[in-house]
Amino acid sequence: MRIVVVGGTGLVGARVVRQLEAANHDVVVAARSTGVDIVTGAGLDRTLEGAAVVIDVSNPGYADPADMLRFFEAAGATLLAAGKTAGIAHHITFSAIGAERIGSGYYRGKYAQEALVAASGIPFTIVRSTPLFEYIDAILDAGRSEESVRVPPLSVQPIATDDAARVLMQVALRGPANAIVEVSGPNIYALPDLAQQILTAAEDYRPVLVDVAAPFFGARPGVDALVTGAAVRSDDAGFEYWLQRALAPA
Ligand SMILES: NC(=O)c1ccc[n+]([C@@H]2O[C@H](COP(=O)([O-])OP(=O)(O)OC[C@H]3O[C@@H](n4cnc5c(N)ncnc54)[C@H](OP(=O)(O)O)[C@@H]3O)[C@@H](O)[C@H]2O)c1
Repeated sequence: MRIVVVGGTGLVGARVVRQLEAANHDVVVAARSTGVDIVTGAGLDRTLEGAAVVIDVSNPGYADPADMLRFFEAAGATLLAAGKTAGIAHHITFSAIGAERIGSGYYRGKYAQEALVAASGIPFTIVRSTPLFEYIDAILDAGRSEESVRVPPLSVQPIATDDAARVLMQVALRGPANAIVEVSGPNIYALPDLAQQILTAAEDYRPVLVDVAAPFFGARPGVDALVTGAAVRSDDAGFEYWLQRALAPA
């Protein structure tokens, strides 16, 4: 069974590819750097030929919410049309918990992408995830100044990228659910507390300030919009384990 990982060179995609290859699956990496553009369609027909499964973990690489929405709409339409022509048996997209209820910023683009997938006629699974541990630094960077780090008053339930990648692989091997599957990290934290612990571990002693207007992927989620009661897998990395690995010398 050939599996095409769209965005297979990215943070999530590279880990999905690594895990699939380690389990001896037939994997094709699709990204602009491998000659495939899912907005223009360049290289797509050739890449999808003979494939059974598409895992879409592409991301546009720009921060403006309107540009993101345009990317997810255009790329989704092109990729799904090509998938239909190629007879793809299972299209998997990686989305965000809260996509349907936040409705602004990055989340608007993800919700639009989900709608295209569900209406495509291709058997599908939408995997909605809580934010990745690896994204927390970007959240802190967005609110960082010389004196302090501003973060919004949110609850977060981060998951390690390796664990999310493992779920995506399992979904690909299991077959289409034609539904939304939720995946989350093992624990819920107040983002300001988590931010403080991460800064302290990095010996950065700036204070963390709670600010409802602090940036969060161009959106203002409600306090509990990013958490879920999804079943937790007992072998997933918790915060302390993740932090140790993140801070360990390469
Ligand atoms: N639940 C959440 O909160 C959550 C958390 C993390 C991630 N996600 C989702 O996971 C996905 C991946 O995120 P990431 O952080 O791994 O992204 P990333 O590191 O920025 O990687 C993006 C990938 O997309 C490819 N790409 C970009 N534009 C493309 C195009 N026009 N045609 C083909 N490939 C293209 C890039 O390769 P090239 O530049 O070579 O094209 C790269 O492989 C995103 O959809 C994101 O929304 C959700």
